[in-house]
Amino acid sequence: MPGKAPGGVETGAGRTRALVIGPYLHARPPRHATPAQGGGNSRSPEARIAEARGLAQAIDVDVVDALIVTLGQIRPATYLGQGKVEDIAARTKTEDIDLVIMDCALSPVQQRNLEKAFAAKVIDRTGLILEIFGRRALTREGTLQVELAHLTYQKSRLVRSWTHLERQRGGFGFLGGPGETQIETDRRLIQERIARIERELEKVKKTRGLHRKSRRSVPYPVVALVGYTNAGKSTLFNRLTRAGVVAEDMLFATLDPTLRALKLPRGSEIILSDTVGFISDLPTMLIAAFKATLEEVLEADIILHVRDIAHEDSEAQRADVDAVLAELGIDVQKPGRLLEVWNKIDAVDSERGLALLNAARRQPPNNRPVLISALTGQGVDDLLSRIETLLGAERVILDLSLDAGDGQGRHWLYEHSEVLSRSDGTEGRLLLTVSVPPALAETVRRRFIEIPRRARAARQ
Ligand code: GTP
Repeated sequence: MPGKAPGGVETGAGRTRALVIGPYLHARPPRHATPAQGGGNSRSPEARIAEARGLAQAIDVDVVDALIVTLGQIRPATYLGQGKVEDIAARTKTEDIDLVIMDCALSPVQQRNLEKAFAAKVIDRTGLILEIFGRRALTREGTLQVELAHLTYQKSRLVRSWTHLERQRGGFGFLGGPGETQIETDRRLIQERIARIERELEKVKKTRGLHRKSRRSVPYPVVALVGYTNAGKSTLFNRLTRAGVVAEDMLFATLDPTLRALKLPRGSEIILSDTVGFISDLPTMLIAAFKATLEEVLEADIILHVRDIAHEDSEAQRADVDAVLAELGIDVQKPGRLLEVWNKIDAVDSERGLALLNAARRQPPNNRPVLISALTGQGVDDLLSRIETLLGAERVILDLSLDAGDGQGRHWLYEHSEVLSRSDGTEGRLLLTVSVPPALAETVRRRFIEIPRRARAARQ
């Protein structure tokens, strides 16, 4: 898509002037739908519009203004009421607005009607997120998933927008005429592209699986950073690894997982994985694209949930992240797997800081959140030692007996496990005590002779 991002917003010279509209219903929607399905929005309108503004800035447009429009009901034709449509139309004209971003889900008809009324391009929340995903996807898989989501979105929009397509192709708009046929052709072409991408995705996933497999054979446990967008994951990742991952004051600075090896204070090594930020109300058709960016999380030994504890909607954000993790099949309650990191502690006043500390202390030790500031470094050492403790609890300790002449076996163990002790046994045997991640324990047991711990103790 040269020159254009997936949603069709010009990315070339001259910044697009955009107006962000938050058309929020008076009454809150029922909580039966999960946040990822677009329901259960418990955020304040102010927080929602602030997020929408942040998302818009992430696609590099010039946000002229962001306004909340409180709705009593949704109008089928234009989403907004007639008076509001006119107000905004007046602004788009006088202020030279090229793009109106509606922080809601629009039907194709609503989108078209608003575009006509505003004489500007209109995108909804799904369109906006697709733009961002498209700009941030770096790996082959990420790109394919975004393209797939975009095609699915386009396909759903084709249903009733045939007149629009026909106009583009210079047709005359006779019902059932060339427009209809053209739509069928478009749908078929899109379907074919979808099928092709799905096939390619399968291939990419297979190779990715192979890479992961070879990585899993090293003894390093994986620690993944997840969290709401802008929570400070990249800043923490940088602090921990001192690697060159750019932390930007921009949403979705990291769509694809980024991996770095890291040595902890007591010497154990881990692989740290940074992921894309979660967002509220993730449209259903984007979940697969988003999931693809989170594969590392599914495999992670420990998940660090980085929270912006200074954010007014911190609790609602946490609920969203937990819900999405649960949808991915991750048990957030499992002790020792998920650790909450309460970030930006430098940005709260001392009274709140104390209240947070007390709240953290009331949690059971295995789930106790760690208070940090990724910016100043406060609490980061504690965090590292907590990770190490959690990992230690996870590791399997094995006593092994090797033939003293088995240099290859010994070499393999030093490469793949942490050797805790080594002594000479009887009859030319070598006794090693090693620590391995659970995933590797069976391989080690199959390859070497394990001495049951009690038998070993009796012998000593
Ligand atoms: P995404 O990539 O969009 O998911 O964001 P992220 O979670 O990686 O956030 P990032 O590290 O880019 O930080 C977002 C903003 O928060 C930046 O402006 C950081 O400087 C700021 N920030 C991060 N950590 C802290 C902190 O401990 N204290 C304060 N005051 N600001 C922080």
